[in-house]
Amino acid sequence: MMNQQMNDFVQKIEADLTNAVPASPLNTNLEESMRYSLEAGGKRIRPLLLLVTLDMLTHNSEQGMRTAIALEMIHTYSLIHDDLPAMDNDDYRRGKLTNHKVYGDWKAILAGDALLTKAFEMISFDAQLTSDIKVQLIQRLSQASGHLGMVGGQVLDMESENTQIDLETLQQIHRAKTGKLLEFAIMAAVDIAKPSEGTAKALENYGQHLGLMFQIKDDLLDVFGDEAKLGKKVGSDIENNKSTYVSLLGEQGAKDKLKEEMEQAYGALRQIDSQYDTTHLETIIEIFNQRNH
Ligand code: IPE
Ligand code: IPE
Ligand code: MG
Ligand code: MG
Ligand code: MG
Repeated sequence: MMNQQMNDFVQKIEADLTNAVPASPLNTNLEESMRYSLEAGGKRIRPLLLLVTLDMLTHNSEQGMRTAIALEMIHTYSLIHDDLPAMDNDDYRRGKLTNHKVYGDWKAILAGDALLTKAFEMISFDAQLTSDIKVQLIQRLSQASGHLGMVGGQVLDMESENTQIDLETLQQIHRAKTGKLLEFAIMAAVDIAKPSEGTAKALENYGQHLGLMFQIKDDLLDVFGDEAKLGKKVGSDIENNKSTYVSLLGEQGAKDKLKEEMEQAYGALRQIDSQYDTTHLETIIEIFNQRNH
């Protein structure tokens, strides 16, 4: 499904992630634990989305590379903390033992903290972007990842364990915990490239529908996925009494909702100025729809 250019992007992301956290002069193994999770081989969908969106708008994706790495660092930290015993209590992630299973709880917490901080350091030192754009990106990333975004969504997700919530509340959780970081990927490219207002709005809509698609699929895979392919345990949501699209709507209801969001994501792409080639963004929709891990 991915073409050569997209594969090249992913390889570049992998290489830059590894180089971003060198060994420590403090002589601790904190950096080793940070790299352990960074290099565990996620799908890299967020940084990829940022790069393909920027490539579509400017044909210069390199300008977004550091921001893309920063985004993957924040995503990785969110997973390290999400897997802790105090949260989802999962032992496997990306086909390997979770960070706390290898390094212990306190170091996993600190590895997450350090990745979060490192992300903002990465953007602030980016020599390819103007100070104005960097401030804009830092504002956008802090809002997407903090109490109004991913962290806020994680709180709602945890609070809704063992309770019956309605679909609207579930949607609110998904928009925050997963949607905001995916939206950031797209809107960061908008901040850097500054397309027309119409295209910016269309991309924002596209991002919102992609975000919902992504978490609906994640919920489906948690019940019906293949553990070996997923690299994480199936059934974690049921075990933790989480409200998910599957628990609220059933398998078919969740699949219908996924399809609905997918149609709307395609619809948003049709609103993008015609000078742009949306092929890669269409491929991303397909990947989100068909993924089995
Ligand atoms: C998993 O994200 C957590 C969610 C936000 C649903 P991904 O499915 O992108 O995880 P990796 O990065 O590929 O491991
Ligand atoms: C986690 O959602 C989302 C974030 C860490 C922001 P999940 O708890 O559903 O993710 P998985 O299923 O463990 O990957
Ligand atoms: Mg969770
Ligand atoms: Mg989890
Ligand atoms: Mg999940």
